[in-house]
Amino acid sequence: MSRSGLFISFEGIDGAGKSSHIDGLAQAFRAQGRNVTLSREPGGTPLAEKLRELVLNDPMDALTEALLIFAARRDHLCQVIEPALARGDVVLCDRFTDATFAYQGAGRGFDTNLLSILERMAQTGVAPEPDLMREPDLTVWFDLAPEVAAERLAGARVPDRFESQPVEFFRRVAQGYADRAAAAPQRFARIDAAQDRHRVWQQLTSVFVRKGWLSIMVPTPGAVA
Ligand code: TYD
Repeated sequence: MSRSGLFISFEGIDGAGKSSHIDGLAQAFRAQGRNVTLSREPGGTPLAEKLRELVLNDPMDALTEALLIFAARRDHLCQVIEPALARGDVVLCDRFTDATFAYQGAGRGFDTNLLSILERMAQTGVAPEPDLMREPDLTVWFDLAPEVAAERLAGARVPDRFESQPVEFFRRVAQGYADRAAAAPQRFARIDAAQDRHRVWQQLTSVFVRKGWLSIMVPTPGAVA
């Protein structure tokens, strides 16, 4: 099995259920002898976690929000993601730039051409290849109808600036993800997140097995053997 680094991001609207599966995948990779770096965005470094607090809680205009998110992303790439890939780790990242196109672009209506410019600035010049714009090798997209996601989230916790948005916002965000997936189908794996947890896990792991990144189907985490 390949020992070169792998960069995998996980995306979907709030409530799509991605977070619970990321830990399971980390365990599966570790069980097969891989070193795993688990991280999230915005965040993943002390500086980026401070920026996350601001972005999720403090009112700000759309450009400020986008700049802070990409500033956090660059720090995360420089401090954590690139060094981990250089070591040959599997990097599992809860959200990355597709979230910016979905939430700030489609959700908030921020200019996606400008986001593309920021993306190029923030993600280039950190990899060993100077001209490479670092992107995930694979993006797992947990696709779920916004109405179902809203039901799952209801009462779960105190909502942040994004979780408190109305369902129409999440319809646009979901469309934003669909557009990003259509534009880069070779990078995206769509998971039908409306299925029960066990089936979501099966669909998820089968993607990794097909790619040769996991060698066997792994049982659902927490399932009784
Ligand atoms: P989330 O993964 O939902 O964290 P948690 O499970 O702890 O709530 O991410 C936090 C929020 O940040 C989420 O609502 C989406 C938003 N977000 C953006 O708006 N733009 C981005 O670029 C990223 C990475 C996240």
